[in-house]
Amino acid sequence: MSVLGDAVSYADEKEGRLIQDICPLPGAEERQENSGSVLLDLHTEDSFHPYKPDYLSLYCLRSGPDRGAITVTGSIRAALPLLSPVSAATLREPIYRTRFSSSFADDAAAPRYTSPQPVLSGPADDPDLCVNFFGTEAVDERGATALDELRGAVEKVLCGVFLRPGDMIVIDNRTAVHGRTGFTPSYDGQDRWLRRCFAVADLRPSRALRKRDSRVCAPVR
Ligand SMILES: [Fe+2]
Repeated sequence: MSVLGDAVSYADEKEGRLIQDICPLPGAEERQENSGSVLLDLHTEDSFHPYKPDYLSLYCLRSGPDRGAITVTGSIRAALPLLSPVSAATLREPIYRTRFSSSFADDAAAPRYTSPQPVLSGPADDPDLCVNFFGTEAVDERGATALDELRGAVEKVLCGVFLRPGDMIVIDNRTAVHGRTGFTPSYDGQDRWLRRCFAVADLRPSRALRKRDSRVCAPVR
């Protein structure tokens, strides 16, 4: 990951560790988070965060006894040709808000959302994608229709992999969403176990959220 950029982490999540353990946790089964085990919907990692990672890596230490956990990715480069011009243009409008993950915000008080933002940005023929199909919602019907079309297009180009010990995948979080199919944990010490790491291409923009020489972003207030 250090070849691609600078490792970074977030104080809100996994205590800010740069290398994080990903395992199913009892009681978290239904959560749309790495600790859950139901279908994890397609998402840009930390799509709600102003300094989300540009890359994430998943290194497999243990596959687990249930072979149902398939890691899936979908690239906007592959999905873009499947979008209508109208929807592609709509997705560039700042009409989408994304709910903060529960590990970054106290949902008990009130759900926290980003300000309205576009889902697609950058070059018309090679855009960046930022979306969470569980947590992103449009502010109007037209935006919702385009979001549904995007979901359908991404689902048509999905790639899946069952990670085995020693496998590592690196995802470009700027152009691809990822998710995981559901599985049944056994909680006997033999479940699926990954190590995750984030990197950004440029560490400087997040400087105000980090202490000097630290890679850990403080909570967004
Ligand atoms: Fe993720």
